Amino acid sequence: MENNKRDPKMKRINNLELANAFIEEQIESIKAQTRGRKVLLALSGGVDSSVVAALIYKAIGDKLVCVHVNHGLLRKGESELVIKVFKEEMKANLIYVDAVDRFLNALEGVEDPECKRKIIGKIFIDVFAEEARKLEDIEILAQGTIYPDITESKGVKAHHNVGGLPEDLKFELLEPVKFLYKDEVRMVGEALGLPKKMVYRQPFPGPGLGVRCPGAITRERLEVVRESDAILRDEFAKAGFEGKVWQYFTIVPPFRSTGIKDNQRTFEYMVVIRAVNSIDATSASIEEIPYPILFKIRDRILEEVKGVNRVLYDISAKPVATIEWE
Ligand code: XMP
Repeated sequence: MENNKRDPKMKRINNLELANAFIEEQIESIKAQTRGRKVLLALSGGVDSSVVAALIYKAIGDKLVCVHVNHGLLRKGESELVIKVFKEEMKANLIYVDAVDRFLNALEGVEDPECKRKIIGKIFIDVFAEEARKLEDIEILAQGTIYPDITESKGVKAHHNVGGLPEDLKFELLEPVKFLYKDEVRMVGEALGLPKKMVYRQPFPGPGLGVRCPGAITRERLEVVRESDAILRDEFAKAGFEGKVWQYFTIVPPFRSTGIKDNQRTFEYMVVIRAVNSIDATSASIEEIPYPILFKIRDRILEEVKGVNRVLYDISAKPVATIEWE
């Protein structure tokens, strides 16, 4: 039976020295497991898959094939960063798949959050499987599974990864960080020389901006989510909150409210700001954003994002709320 328990004697990786020792150990173990064979990895650009990509690349170079699927629910500039870091700088073998229309068309009119998650997860697997079939002689699939994914897999919301691939695609699994906690994965990422922007990025859900566009996703509202999120991240970075606040993002509910602009009545969307602190996402408290920063974010959103006339601040902790709205 596969061992899914972290060795209680394993030291917590809390400095670069321990991270480097872990990297050396994993390079040996990856080489020993792969023995010259190719490895496939779904590279979302999140911390976990990025660290796994850099680690495996260090061990086996271009025997690693990364597939980055753009499902249209990524944040502004996210795919571009993945391409820049892995393809242009690291020179890793990266396949970029633009599946935006496929995802958004399938999600049209779907309101139920869990249905949305299932559709996103299913299409993700379909797209990934199609890419995998195009590639020859790949026997190993790498995954960015981390320890909390194993211990908390019975959560309230269906989290997705590449598990559940069709029967004809049988892979041997390679999960080099499966016994690490998030902070340890970040430390390893830093030791591997990944940009801080990537290593200390906030957790981002598999279904992406899809769960921040509650109800049926429309391209118009998704754009409001993406643009307002970019402004929030930019202002948080300027305020020095990046890497300090656990998770911050915007939500755009599926209804509009009345406003007034240039003496004309408007009827537009509202943007909700959410910023929370947490240790392991099972509970979360509210980050008390200073009013001047909130006002700056509000002004920029109202000025720069089309179709918005109201900005709100969600002050609900988890529990009773969850971090995401869906
Ligand atoms: P909630 O909303 O349950 O979120 O308080 C806890 C943490 O999990 C993230 N999250 C997800 N991650 N797939 C994921 O990979 C999902 O479907 C999903 N839903 C929520 C959320 O962003 C937070 O960090």
